[in-house]
Amino acid sequence: MSKTRVAMVTGAANGIGRAIVDRFLSDGYSVVAVDIDSAGLAVILDEIGGDRLAVATADISIRDEVAAAVQVAIDRFGGLDVLAANAAIADGEPFLEISEKSWRRIIDVNVNGTFFCIQESAKVMAAAGKGAIVVTSSTNSWYVESNLSHYNASKGGVVALMRSAAIDMAKLGIRVNAVEPSMVKTRAAFITTDPIGGPEYLKRVPMGRFAEPSEIAATIAFLASDQASYITGQTIVVDGGLTLGIDLPLPAVPLPGSARAVDLESS
Ligand SMILES: NC(=O)c1ccc[n+]([C@@H]2O[C@H](COP(=O)([O-])OP(=O)(O)OC[C@H]3O[C@@H](n4cnc5c(N)ncnc54)[C@H](O)[C@@H]3O)[C@@H](O)[C@H]2O)c1
Repeated sequence: MSKTRVAMVTGAANGIGRAIVDRFLSDGYSVVAVDIDSAGLAVILDEIGGDRLAVATADISIRDEVAAAVQVAIDRFGGLDVLAANAAIADGEPFLEISEKSWRRIIDVNVNGTFFCIQESAKVMAAAGKGAIVVTSSTNSWYVESNLSHYNASKGGVVALMRSAAIDMAKLGIRVNAVEPSMVKTRAAFITTDPIGGPEYLKRVPMGRFAEPSEIAATIAFLASDQASYITGQTIVVDGGLTLGIDLPLPAVPLPGSARAVDLESS
């Protein structure tokens, strides 16, 4: 009988991370749920329970705490096959008002923390000769939103980090990919519950709705699975069409030279 696959999920206590935990458990993985929020982890342990879930409190910007979380996967489940490096923070601040402290904390958690998670997990995966890592970036890595410079920069950094890890570790049997959600219904995406700003934002989304956390988890589950066995260094945008282009109204009259314009002229 093949061994149960083991996944570690960061940012597991809330939002997308919680949905990833639920998805991996229903796909049959054993899961280590990692978060800085120990009370939140206690809640999911209480809600889910079972012998395929372990929790580890860690601030991903502190390497030793990340290493200790990886050790939980080894001690409880005998190894680590998959990492969903999902934890991140943001803040909305105009460019000229961003303090050095604020800039450094967001870069420290989102870029340095993601690096520690990838590197500490990959040490275990490299020894086993296989592994899959999926990073949660954002469409903000290139389709930027105002007042989020530190967050946007961090998510761009995370994509370059993902591609770098992928090229360096392909020969070790480790695939590294990313998802880029746009606006997902979590506590961090305040616009999704704003009665005025929400509907206004949705006018720009071709699919006309926000993403469910489970839809991001499903994409991560695909990239982590053997279904994606030849995919590495890639990003999948999960945005309901938001970044496809500009919604242009129909012209009042047929455009010059078009068949309809010529027909009109000759009639
Ligand atoms: N919600 C969206 O619209 C959206 C869009 C694009 C990308 N994302 C990305 O999705 C991921 C999850 O976001 P979310 O919306 O679920 O946010 P969330 O705030 O609901 O959850 C984030 C989780 O990360 C944890 N966390 C924060 N700092 C941490 C640290 N230093 N160490 C360990 N854990 C820490 C939090 O405690 C929380 O449980 C993030 O990478 C975010 O940038 C979210």
